[in-house]
Amino acid sequence: MNFNQHYTAVLSSDLLLDEKPTKVIFQNKSVVVIRSNGQIRAYDDFCPHRGAPLSEGFFRDGQLHCPYHGWSFSFESGENTNVPVKNEPVKCELKKIHAIEKFGLIWLCMEVDGVMPTLLDEKATIFTSGVINALVHNSIENFLEGSHTHYIHDGLIRSQKTQRQNIKAYFVPTETGFKVHYSEEPPKGLITKLTPKKYKNLKSVATYIYPNLTILEYFNQEDELISRFEGIFSSRNEETQYFARIFLNFGIITPLLKPFATKVFKKVIQQDVEILELQNANLKTHPGNKFVSDNTDLVGQQIFAWLFDQDKIIKEPTQFNLFW
Ligand code: FES
Ligand SMILES: [Fe+2]
Repeated sequence: MNFNQHYTAVLSSDLLLDEKPTKVIFQNKSVVVIRSNGQIRAYDDFCPHRGAPLSEGFFRDGQLHCPYHGWSFSFESGENTNVPVKNEPVKCELKKIHAIEKFGLIWLCMEVDGVMPTLLDEKATIFTSGVINALVHNSIENFLEGSHTHYIHDGLIRSQKTQRQNIKAYFVPTETGFKVHYSEEPPKGLITKLTPKKYKNLKSVATYIYPNLTILEYFNQEDELISRFEGIFSSRNEETQYFARIFLNFGIITPLLKPFATKVFKKVIQQDVEILELQNANLKTHPGNKFVSDNTDLVGQQIFAWLFDQDKIIKEPTQFNLFW
């Protein structure tokens, strides 16, 4: 598995205005992204003349113009089209990065036949994004792993005080990561407590897709999908950029629930961001300290295995118990 072969989400589609060169961070470097006539192009944000950032330039007549000496480059190919002081082009081109617009996001990949993940191809009920001052693998673990929820999201998702239940977790490896199926759980969070009976006692499935995608799904007794949370992550100069696509399927009460759910999820994310940033600062001042994991930490362990040590990827299904 090679990281470079996978598309990475770098920007929400709404933030890319047509024909406005826009700077994004991809693999710790700035990239200029442009949309024109529904097409997307991305180039290394570096003018070959003297290295000025093209994202500070402008787009006119199908060309991207450098802000410094006005060299222009073709939107289609990145080839130089004109050097104003000479009134003809020189032979050079911008370094191209493959770009796709899908699922309300702009995705980039270094390689031609990059792998695009399969996400739910509809408009999310709730969409939010942000940057966390934490390393991306710790953010991914946080999104998918449930044992912090009793403490960090006390009263919102689970609670410190209510009696814990024995939950069974079935870990199933997949071609691109893994899934963990959790047995049903009585309602403990605000949202599930407030909804009709049909939406209680939900089973959940946590999915990890290499390198930086996580999905949490909740199903009711009739195996109907009630909610789905997609966490799409990317690393950005030692920080994490995240995009959260949240789908709620509570039938006719979904629109009624949306404003309240939006508040709750934003609060939940804020709580995660706070602990991730505290953890990150602590990791920096205690370098070299190793983590202790136990088998209930399989989710985190396997995320780290996929990202850093693929010999440790578990290839057989396995089961473990949790007190949730
Ligand atoms: S640096 Fe871009 S035109 Fe000179
Ligand atoms: Fe959390």
